[in-house]
Amino acid sequence: MKAAFITETGPPSKITFGELPEAVPKATELLIEVGAVAVNPIDTYIRGGMIPMPLPLPFVVGCDFAGTIRSLGSEVRGFKVGDRVWGSNQGLLGRQGTFAERITVDQSFCYQTPQNCSDEDIAALALVCITAHLGLCQRALLRRGETLLVNGGAGGVGSAVIQIGKAMGAKVIATAGSDERAAICQSLGADVVINHKSEDVGAVVARKTAQGVDIFWETQRHPDFNASIDLLAENGRMVVMAGRDAQPPFPVGPFYVKGCSLHGFAMFKASAADQEKCAADIANWIENGHIRANIGKRFPLSEAAKAHELQEANTIHSAGTLHGKIVLTP
Ligand SMILES: NC(=O)c1ccc[n+]([C@@H]2O[C@H](COP(=O)([O-])OP(=O)(O)OC[C@H]3O[C@@H](n4cnc5c(N)ncnc54)[C@H](OP(=O)(O)O)[C@@H]3O)[C@@H](O)[C@H]2O)c1
Repeated sequence: MKAAFITETGPPSKITFGELPEAVPKATELLIEVGAVAVNPIDTYIRGGMIPMPLPLPFVVGCDFAGTIRSLGSEVRGFKVGDRVWGSNQGLLGRQGTFAERITVDQSFCYQTPQNCSDEDIAALALVCITAHLGLCQRALLRRGETLLVNGGAGGVGSAVIQIGKAMGAKVIATAGSDERAAICQSLGADVVINHKSEDVGAVVARKTAQGVDIFWETQRHPDFNASIDLLAENGRMVVMAGRDAQPPFPVGPFYVKGCSLHGFAMFKASAADQEKCAADIANWIENGHIRANIGKRFPLSEAAKAHELQEANTIHSAGTLHGKIVLTP
C-alpha cells in the first residue's frame, strides 16, 4: 500500500511517498481504508524532531484520520465492517501514523462518523475539536452565558474553540489578523471579531464586556500575559496550549488579585476514555449543525511533503498563507 513516511526526522523533504507492507490489525484494532487525513502543527514538530517521540521506523506521519472499516481484530466490540470512523492521536507515543491508504487503529481511539459529515470534514475537525473540548469542558469549565475570547480565531484550534464555545452557549469574541480572517470567525459564529493588527484589542473588549472576559483562550506560541491578564474578569480562566519553549513574563499581582486561574494541557496526553467523551459531544454538535470544518487547503496524499511545508511555514515561520486546516486524500 502507498504511505507517506520518514526513516529519520528532518525537514519536509524527508517524507517519502511510496510502498509499505499492508497494515494487519491486532486483536483490539480496526483495519481502516483511509478516506482523508489532516495536518496539525504537531505533525511538523514530530517529523522535524522538535518533539522527541519514540517512532516506529519507517514512521508514517500524521495524527488525524477518517475512513471506512475493512476488517476487525478478534476482540473488537461495537464496530462492524463498512462503518465509517474517525479519530486522532495516532503517530504519537510510539503509535504508527495515519498518512497511508490503509491503517490499523486501536478501537479505543476510533469513533463513528456522523452521517452528515464527509471524511474530509471529520478529519479536519478531529484533533482541533478534541483539543477545544478538553480545554473548555475539562479545564476552563465554560458555563452557558459566559464570555470567551479566542486569540487566533481563524486558525485550526481557534475555529474549533469558537464553534464549541457557541454550541455551549458562550458569548464569543475572536481575534483575527485580516478582514478575510475576521469574516471566517464571523461565519463560524463569533459574536465580536477584533482585528489584532489594526484595532486595540483591550479597548474593544472593555467596550463589549461589563468587566472583562471569563475565559481567554490563547492559541499563540508566545503569549503576552501582560496584555491578556488585563482582559480577564474576576475569576477569569486562561487556557494556554502552545509554545513549548516560551518563557514570557507573567504579571502575578493582577492575576491572583482577580482570583484567576491558568490551565495548560497537551491533548495527546489525555486518556482514550477522556477523548471518547469529547468525541461523543463533537458528533452530537456536528449532527445538530453546530460545528463545521474550516478547510484551508487540500492536497493528494502523494503531496504530503508539500502539505508539511505549508503547515511549517505557517506554524513556525508565521507565513500567514493558511486559513484553516490542510486535508489530504489518498
Ligand atoms: N496543547 C495542545 O493540545 C495543542 C493541540 C493543538 C494545537 N496546539 C498548538 O496550538 C498552536 C495553534 O495551532 P493551530 O492548529 O490553531 O495553528 P494555526 O491554524 O496556524 O492557527 C494559528 C492562528 O494564529 C493567528 N495569529 C497569528 N499571529 C497572531 C497574533 N499576533 N495574535 C493573535 N493571533 C495570531 C493566525 O491567524 P491570523 O493570521 O488571523 O492572526 C492563525 O490562524 C500551535 O502552536 C499548536 O502546536 C496545541
